[in-house]
Amino acid sequence: MKNLDQYLIEKKLIVEKELQINIEKLNAPKELKDSMLYSLMAGGKRLRPVLLMLSFEAYKAHNQKVMSSISALEMIHTYSLIHDDLPAMDDDDFRRGKETNHKKFDEATAILAGDALLTYSFEIITDDDLLSDEEKVSIVKLLAKCSGPTGMVGGQIYDMQAEKEKVSLEKLEQIHEYKTGELIKFAIMTGAYLANAPKEEMDHLKNFAYYLGLIFQIQDDILDVTGDESKLGKPVGSDESNQKSTFPNLLGLKGAIKQKEIYIEKAKAELDKTTAKKDMLIKLMAYFGNRDH
Ligand code: IPE
Ligand code: IPE
Ligand code: MG
Ligand code: MG
Ligand code: MG
Repeated sequence: MKNLDQYLIEKKLIVEKELQINIEKLNAPKELKDSMLYSLMAGGKRLRPVLLMLSFEAYKAHNQKVMSSISALEMIHTYSLIHDDLPAMDDDDFRRGKETNHKKFDEATAILAGDALLTYSFEIITDDDLLSDEEKVSIVKLLAKCSGPTGMVGGQIYDMQAEKEKVSLEKLEQIHEYKTGELIKFAIMTGAYLANAPKEEMDHLKNFAYYLGLIFQIQDDILDVTGDESKLGKPVGSDESNQKSTFPNLLGLKGAIKQKEIYIEKAKAELDKTTAKKDMLIKLMAYFGNRDH
């Protein structure tokens, strides 16, 4: 049984090497490549790629077939952060311990770096010779779904609409599911799909991912209140200044922590209904819920 910290360090290096290679080989304008690479290599935790690999390894031994999907997922996640930080959105100056992309470069370059990361992610999957055509179509379809109007982008709209409003718990769950949970769902489902996990387990994995997304974003909301800026690498208090609807805002800090525990139990129950190797996934879930950055 491997230790999670050691696993995270090992996999993070693999992810970062792959991202770097994918950007460096591009015959694109230097300013654009610099801007894409700046945010990509600014030191994210790489939790979504690690989750995708763990989901695969819950059914099969590691295989290079996951590499294009992990790269694409981290690129889309990074694009979502670049745009999330823009003045028109959360208007934040620091991300991953460094100046946000629009501060380091300019707004136009940051918007275009985000656009480029989004579109390039699909090219990376369709260019992967290790995947069959059927696998490429399935993965691209799910990635588009999880990133788009009924995924992350839709969630960002819900998030903005809920500013200055008191929303219900159900609405808040929907905001978090869309803006954060869907990309986490992509990680779990793609890892399991590429490992040929039994079809009848897919719905349980999907439910597991749903709760995992909520756990992840509740902790993000809690850290925005209680976190240490130097550890987080991004400002605390951003949600309050933007009058966001968050779990601590709706339920209080204690209520948010309690709600997180409820989702952790529900997530475990879903995972228990599968034949997946659970040990590392459970450890990663605990990390999602207790992380300090
Ligand atoms: C931040 O995600 C945005 C959310 C969806 C909460 P992460 O906390 O995974 O950010 P990085 O990738 O480690 O910077
Ligand atoms: C962002 O949620 C989720 C995305 C889709 C990028 P937040 O706005 O809470 O993320 P942070 O706190 O800026 O990382
Ligand atoms: Mg935001
Ligand atoms: Mg933000
Ligand atoms: Mg946040």
